[in-house]
Amino acid sequence: MKTTAKAHANIALVKYWGKRDPTLNLPAVGSISMTLRALTTTTAINFKDEFTRDRLILNGKHAGEKQARRVSKFLDLMREPAGVHTFAEITSENNFPTGAGLASSASGFAALAVAADRALNLNLSPTALSRYARMGSGSAARSIFGGFVEMHRGEKPDGSDAVAEPLFDANYWPLEMLILITSEAEKPIGSTEGMNLTAQTSPYYPAWVESSINDLAEMRDAITRRDFEKLGEIAEFSCFKMHGLAMSANPALIYWNELTVKLIAEVRRLRKQGTPAYVTIDAGPQVKVICPPGESDSLMTHFSKFEGIKQVLQSNIGGGARVK
Ligand code: PMV
Repeated sequence: MKTTAKAHANIALVKYWGKRDPTLNLPAVGSISMTLRALTTTTAINFKDEFTRDRLILNGKHAGEKQARRVSKFLDLMREPAGVHTFAEITSENNFPTGAGLASSASGFAALAVAADRALNLNLSPTALSRYARMGSGSAARSIFGGFVEMHRGEKPDGSDAVAEPLFDANYWPLEMLILITSEAEKPIGSTEGMNLTAQTSPYYPAWVESSINDLAEMRDAITRRDFEKLGEIAEFSCFKMHGLAMSANPALIYWNELTVKLIAEVRRLRKQGTPAYVTIDAGPQVKVICPPGESDSLMTHFSKFEGIKQVLQSNIGGGARVK
């Protein structure tokens, strides 16, 4: 029987970068995100006795060896407690560009965890699902939930406390976001490789880990008080700290292109003129603009005319991952 699940991408307002245990995929720092309604992955899974291996179809095409192996390994983790040994066909579609720093792994593994849970009759709690999703991709743990979500770094060596927790649901403070796509190319260095290189080579890494605790506290406080300026300030601080950190790796990791830099300057210019907007950027060249409820339409008009931008996506806050 085919089971289909849907999950939304999420964008971190306080970033995760670095692993305390690469094997269990445990984050070195906590993170806080908002889930985006408009960016969706829909994943169908079908276990069949006659299959001799898992098959992954991503956006209508057979996935490459590396991606297929990553998904198979993830499914093994869920097959084991279910006592199931059959293989599956997995069909996954994103309604946004894949692998270009747009958190497709977040919505991808969250949707897969939810679909596999139902197909394998595991009946896991959302917290347990987030623990599984984390093993697929760190940011996926957050996409299990909607609204504002905090991912805990956890302390336990087995990672059982490295899970996401919903802070406030999607209706609490309907912030909006624009995603300015500056390039549709796949990023050259994935986040796992980038994080590991950073942890091994950057002299700034210990300071990054230590200072994240305060960022998380301040972000929680800003969201609780619905203080947009404070939220934007901390989001930019965390984002630029993460990119400064990545640039201090050896060899340097530079995820931006020229347009990324121009857009950062443009948002700063608009803000000086009184527009409430802040940027955040993940492991890629796309610029995400965070704005208060009702502000994204005029910014959409503004950026749609900005030279060089490939595409502008607009989203408000969305809900958690679910069976369709
Ligand atoms: O979950 P991963 O391995 O795709 O890493 C996500 C890293 C960032 O997107 C840059 C930051 C974050 O917290 O989402």
